[in-house]
Amino acid sequence: MPKKQLTAPDILAAKGQRKLAVLTAYDYPTGLLADEAGADIILVGDSVGNVCLGLPDTLGVTMADMLHHTRATARAVKSALLVADMPFLSYQTSVSEAVANAGRFLQEAGARAVKLEGGAAFVPQVRAMLAAGIPVMGHLGLTPQQLAVLGGFKAQGKTARAAKKLVEDAHALAEAGCFSLVLEAVPAEVAARITAEVEIPTIGIGAGPHCDGQVLVFHDVLGLCPGLRPSFVKQYADLWTPAREALAAYCAEVRGGAFPAEAQTRRMAPDELAEFLASPEYGDA
Ligand code: KIV
Repeated sequence: MPKKQLTAPDILAAKGQRKLAVLTAYDYPTGLLADEAGADIILVGDSVGNVCLGLPDTLGVTMADMLHHTRATARAVKSALLVADMPFLSYQTSVSEAVANAGRFLQEAGARAVKLEGGAAFVPQVRAMLAAGIPVMGHLGLTPQQLAVLGGFKAQGKTARAAKKLVEDAHALAEAGCFSLVLEAVPAEVAARITAEVEIPTIGIGAGPHCDGQVLVFHDVLGLCPGLRPSFVKQYADLWTPAREALAAYCAEVRGGAFPAEAQTRRMAPDELAEFLASPEYGDA
């Protein structure tokens, strides 16, 4: 019997029952791999800007980018809950714009929930989306769309005051109806307290072991992103090196004439070939 695709209520119900494994994905093959691997949630993150589009941060990612990548991923995802990230300025400007943009991910791109960054200030957006039938995942701590205000990609909630604000924001989002909450780059103690206090699953990234689930970026897990990666990332494979070596071998074989070899070459059947060679047009050519 085919497995039922997970829903936002299923994710909510998992709190306290089992740990949730979340992966990002950005297109058909990455969606297929993450889904086949058994992720509970597949997030089409606005990290698409960094890992797929060559942007320095997520501020340049647009609704058009996110819809395009969500559509491609949705074609692959059969078991996980598919969540689309709301890009910069798609929900901050007004509640009605937030609902209209969030709705596009469900109506046009196949997502079944959206994620937005920010705390209590965005409760009106969360409530309005929910009223419109759109499940919302929150995101607190290091919120990359706030990069200019935060002054860089820095861990958050390190002082007692900042930690208290995070706990308050987590309560506000949970009470507004978010079905889960990403906690990014916050001390493990803060994540543990939020996890114990709110009734929705917390999904950590750089937030220690006490969250209800964990999320990692697809390319980080597989070592598909050259360059520096945050210390909280665990790379489970290095696919960059063998991929580059395989591509270099292809280029060398094309130049050296080793590819295509007989195994990759199609030949005509002998009778068809004889007829073809005997045809007058061949001699004219
Ligand atoms: O955009 C993204 O990939 C994210 C995850 C890191 C949670 O927001």
